[in-house]
Amino acid sequence: MSHRKIVLLGANGQVGFELARSLLPLGEVTALSRQQWDLQDLEAGPALLDKLRPDVLVNAAAYTAVDKAESEPELANAINAKLPALLARHCVDNDALLVHYSTDYVFAGDADRPYLESDDCAPTGVYGESKLAGERAISDSGCEHLVFRTSWVFAERGHNFLQTMLRLATQRDALSIVSDQQGCPTWSRHIADTTAAILAQRGRASGPVGTFHLASRNHTNWHAFADAIFDRAVKLGLIPKKPELTAIGTHQYPTPAKRPAWSVLDTDAIERAFSLRMPTWQKALELCMGRMVS
Ligand SMILES: NC(=O)c1ccc[n+]([C@@H]2O[C@H](COP(=O)([O-])OP(=O)(O)OC[C@H]3O[C@@H](n4cnc5c(N)ncnc54)[C@H](OP(=O)(O)O)[C@@H]3O)[C@@H](O)[C@H]2O)c1
Repeated sequence: MSHRKIVLLGANGQVGFELARSLLPLGEVTALSRQQWDLQDLEAGPALLDKLRPDVLVNAAAYTAVDKAESEPELANAINAKLPALLARHCVDNDALLVHYSTDYVFAGDADRPYLESDDCAPTGVYGESKLAGERAISDSGCEHLVFRTSWVFAERGHNFLQTMLRLATQRDALSIVSDQQGCPTWSRHIADTTAAILAQRGRASGPVGTFHLASRNHTNWHAFADAIFDRAVKLGLIPKKPELTAIGTHQYPTPAKRPAWSVLDTDAIERAFSLRMPTWQKALELCMGRMVS
């Protein structure tokens, strides 16, 4: 398929911003943000999508405020569950491919090995429940789809752990960081580039579809991740000195939404299906932070 029409939702988000660049060589990209479609207005969707007629609809928009979701379940559900259902319906009716992103929060977070795509889901909060409902609406619709579950997204911009740590390092001499939650920090740019690589393969022939884990290939905990961020930030001159770090338990940092202790995603399936190799989080962090000074 050449000159595919690609419509991207959530173009101002951490992943969407990168997708707007990564998808460009693949076809005619229409990148939509809140200005063009406030997704709370679901009723506006069908007419807009009928007008744009995408061959590939990429949904990087989401309600991602994990704690706030506990007090705004309706909004979280509208964006994370009802919207994907609407997009899936459009894709079924128009024979389009739906690319959608989901999260490690669909799992209970109590496993003792990396999660496989086929493992049981059991979210523990509103955000995870709403994202799982979105996944299920897509698979139940029967549309051709790629759902990429990712985790611990970091980027040169936006609200994420890397940016929070760099800000705190300029404000405090000492920080206490949780060390009993494990996950795979994943660079937004790698999510976008991997998505584009997979869609480029599909340009020649249809390929595997379904749900895949798209994350860095190894894991760490927040304390060790912060330690690596600060080491590199000092080397790059992004901060004058490394704050003193203390490892604490999750119980010492209470949040409205429960955090999974084990958020490690197995990436074997995506690597095998699309002949890819996911980078390590250390390599991704090095490249991402390098771009912050270049
Ligand atoms: N961040 C993570 O650590 C993480 C972890 C696992 C999975 N994921 C998943 O990865 C995907 C991408 O996440 P991300 O980190 O790129 O999220 P993000 O930076 O929060 O971006 C989400 C985007 O959705 C848009 N959006 C939300 N509500 C909207 C509305 N009512 N109308 C129009 N646009 C709206 C936002 O628009 P505005 O910019 O205008 O607010 C934003 O651009 C999501 O599916 C998320 O669930 C993220």
